[in-house]
Amino acid sequence: MKTLKIAIQKSGRLNEKSVELLKNCGLNFENYKSSLISPVSNFPLEILFLRDDDIPEYVQDGIADLGIVGENVIQETEVEVSYLQKLGFGKCSLKIAVPNTLPIKNLSELDGKSIATTYPVILGKFLKQKGIESDIRTISGSVEISPGLGLSDAICDLVSTGGTLKSNGLKPFADVMSSEAVLIGRKGSENEDLIKELIQRVQSVLRAKE
Ligand code: PRP
Ligand code: ZN
Ligand code: MG
Repeated sequence: MKTLKIAIQKSGRLNEKSVELLKNCGLNFENYKSSLISPVSNFPLEILFLRDDDIPEYVQDGIADLGIVGENVIQETEVEVSYLQKLGFGKCSLKIAVPNTLPIKNLSELDGKSIATTYPVILGKFLKQKGIESDIRTISGSVEISPGLGLSDAICDLVSTGGTLKSNGLKPFADVMSSEAVLIGRKGSENEDLIKELIQRVQSVLRAKE
């Protein structure tokens, strides 16, 4: 029997809940320490601990059979994967935020302004749809400090509790998309039976929580 691989986030917002879900599915494995792969002792499965941003591509390319990742990351990477199950955790929204001191009311006022983000694809589509031309500055992290440093007028980033925005003197201005963690799989994967078995376990864990 071939061993399945599931990719989950190595560290960050989704890591803990992803591990908890898999443990609740009755899977025995060591949580991430220094090895990026953990074998499951009681199911033909290996857990890969990866950067969330890489997970959709790993699944699309067949390096992992399954993945747990935020919808925002899937949309941003524009991959072809199957959505198998929404997981009900990791809820957040992608928002445009501006400095508390910026007197701005309408979306159209973003025209000509610069927006720093790690989500240039999603933000680009959103602005295009609204007919707004902003200067999108793609950076790879710590987006929230960008306006304070004079690198951009606004930001577009994930907001969950809102704590990060607040502590950086920013206020939410517009909602771009909402997101939660989802289980994804590769289109046309072999190992259908094992995958089905895992999905069923996930679904019964979710049902027990209702
Ligand atoms: C997101 C986002 C913010 C933070 C917001 O990062 O980039 O930094 O969470 O959360 P808050 O509203 O509760 O303060 P994430 O954990 O998704 O990590 P990543 O961007 O490094 O993948
Ligand atoms: Zn990330
Ligand atoms: Mg972040």
